[in-house]
Amino acid sequence: MADSNPFADPLRFERQVPECAIVIFGANGDLTKRKLIPALYRLAYERRLPATVSILGTSRTPLNDDEFRSKMHDSVKQFLEDSPFDEERWDGFAKGLYYVAGDLSDPALYSSIKDKLTALGRTNVLYYLSTQPSYYGEVVERLGAVGLGRSTAEGWQRVVVEKPFGHDLKSARELNERIHRVFDEADVYRIDHYLGKETVQNILAFRFGNGIFEPLWNRRYINHVQITAAESIGVEGRGAYYQEAGAVRDMIQNHLLQVMATIAMEPPAEYEPDAVRDERAKLLRSIRILSPEEVPLYAVAGQYGGFRHEPGVDPATQAPTYAAATFYIDNWRWAGIPFYIRSGKRLPKRTTEIAIQYNTAPHALFTPDAGGVTMRPNLLILRIQPEEGISLRFLSKQPGSGMRLRPVSMDFNYGSSFGERSPTAYETLLEDALTGDATLYTRQDMVEASWRVVSPILEDWANRKFEFPNYEPGTWGPAAADEMLARQAHVWRNS
Ligand code: BG6
Repeated sequence: MADSNPFADPLRFERQVPECAIVIFGANGDLTKRKLIPALYRLAYERRLPATVSILGTSRTPLNDDEFRSKMHDSVKQFLEDSPFDEERWDGFAKGLYYVAGDLSDPALYSSIKDKLTALGRTNVLYYLSTQPSYYGEVVERLGAVGLGRSTAEGWQRVVVEKPFGHDLKSARELNERIHRVFDEADVYRIDHYLGKETVQNILAFRFGNGIFEPLWNRRYINHVQITAAESIGVEGRGAYYQEAGAVRDMIQNHLLQVMATIAMEPPAEYEPDAVRDERAKLLRSIRILSPEEVPLYAVAGQYGGFRHEPGVDPATQAPTYAAATFYIDNWRWAGIPFYIRSGKRLPKRTTEIAIQYNTAPHALFTPDAGGVTMRPNLLILRIQPEEGISLRFLSKQPGSGMRLRPVSMDFNYGSSFGERSPTAYETLLEDALTGDATLYTRQDMVEASWRVVSPILEDWANRKFEFPNYEPGTWGPAAADEMLARQAHVWRNS
């Protein structure tokens, strides 16, 4: 299609969230106060929510509406990211906050929720499951038992399910069956907050909105890909959860495999929820499943010194706080190209990035000179956080006599280029769920495909006794992770 003026401003599409209620299960938990309510407040502040939206929190802690409002007021003030807090706007928003106390296993709680929704006159309802994961199935069944959870002509009913979706493939399937007894798949929103990050979405814009990168996006030109999610923090009081989960379930099965799918998927035919999700799912299904013999060669577990002394952690725990793996994608575009993925706690700094290393020039034309380089692969770095942006590294002639080359980089910085605040992942994803856009949510087949990819690693590690701890806090993880790459003559990008 011919574009009349390539320099014209793109049109802005605004979406409208309809009158609705949001019911948050686990309203006294960390996620609600750190992420959900600040995101909803911010959406209201920007008038992206209807003025009369109702938010109904529920948890076991006895609180009345005013106590809940005052708790949320303090949380929003504390956790609102890079935007001002406005008392006046808060007062308007807080009028729509309600609270119902109750036990998740008590049918009376669900009747109270239903009565409240009827009293508020809300037929469009988003249920947000932010409880302990072991309750997800039960909450949904109990909603179904009081007649909630089915979209009708009067209004929609949707459910957002927080991660982890299951503990392994079997439990993910079981959970899915339980949820489907009440909600249709089209109304199930499995959240992976990485997909809501602006810079993860920008990967799609970068790949499919430009004409020059896609032709180079394949095994002919790309040597390998590294995906890193490093955190400098430890488990921050979440020791009990984390020792159950470990790094593979916490970060790789969901966030990093989704990032990998975004990097490696084929272009969808259209930017529509199922077209995009079909491509992601197809990619996840194309990842080669490791055989039990391959796991020790292609996956590395680590645990930082001191993890076993964190509160709530078993002093003999074998849970990994670091995991690295090599994955191959068995399709025409990527056959034979390693994708190295790693994630760990207590690494030297917080950084999430994708580094795409191209092949070197086929022939070294310039002879080495003192201090110069002749061959260095081009590197494309997509930085998810912090300092979101993209850089391309290439060789350039150093000023002066002779032909001495030096790597330089061409940088795009998200913040300075747009000069405006980016919505948080939860703002984006909540607004999407409220407008019925599931593009950035994971579908059951994607969740199952990801569990299948990590299953051999989880099974091997469950039966192995590691010599933990095997890395010092503040370092880049165990030596075995470097050795895994060295076997293919590659090195991690540790800067
Ligand atoms: C969560 C994990 O899903 O993602 C945490 O449970 C991790 O362990 C967090 O710290 C990282 O998210 P972000 O957005 O800070 O990169």
